[in-house]
Amino acid sequence: MREAGPLDLDEVVPLRLALLRDETATPGRRLLHPDAERRARVIFAKQLRSPREVTLLAESDGAVIGILRVVAAPPSPLHAEFRHAYLTSAYVVPTARRRGVLRALVAHALAWCEAHGVAEVRLHSAVGNAAAARAWDALGFGVAEELRRRVLGLR
Ligand SMILES: CC(C)(COP(=O)(O)OP(=O)(O)OC[C@H]1O[C@@H](n2cnc3c(N)ncnc32)[C@H](O)[C@@H]1OP(=O)(O)O)[C@@H](O)C(=O)NCCC(=O)NCCS
Repeated sequence: MREAGPLDLDEVVPLRLALLRDETATPGRRLLHPDAERRARVIFAKQLRSPREVTLLAESDGAVIGILRVVAAPPSPLHAEFRHAYLTSAYVVPTARRRGVLRALVAHALAWCEAHGVAEVRLHSAVGNAAAARAWDALGFGVAEELRRRVLGLR
């Protein structure tokens, strides 16, 4: 388990694109843009340099097998001091699943949050992703909000 840096871009891009491709099967998510990979490299490179977030990588036998990103939310100017962070981009390669990789990534993420004064950790998980729902339940993340949507007939 380690924190990724800018030199890990080539490891990060395929895992995050694999997750985005998985998610295209989820209601409410869109198909990937034809130029997504090139754009992803620009965006992810910036994220890997940001002090407000960390990308965690799980490795086994020298290969990256899992990823999890932690992003600290900016403090709200309208609320009393309270810091929260988001977990995002959780992905474990299919051959390494159910071996505790996500559990280990989350443990590292929570330690990062504590070290950065974060009081609460949030994440989004799509309805219909049963494995993710089971995993987040097992790791102590209860459901706190609903995201409702209405699809309009525009193209
Ligand atoms: C969801 C995902 C990240 C879980 O990663 P993982 O490394 O397999 O998870 P872990 O092995 O750490 O599992 C931790 C616990 O979650 C639960 N869990 C994980 N996957 C599960 C599954 N498919 N079915 C039932 N429970 C599951 C179990 O309780 C497990 O503990 P146990 O194995 O000791 O019983 C992985 O399945 C994945 O990458 N899926 C595709 C991408 C995705 O959906 N990401 C989440 C977006 S919100």
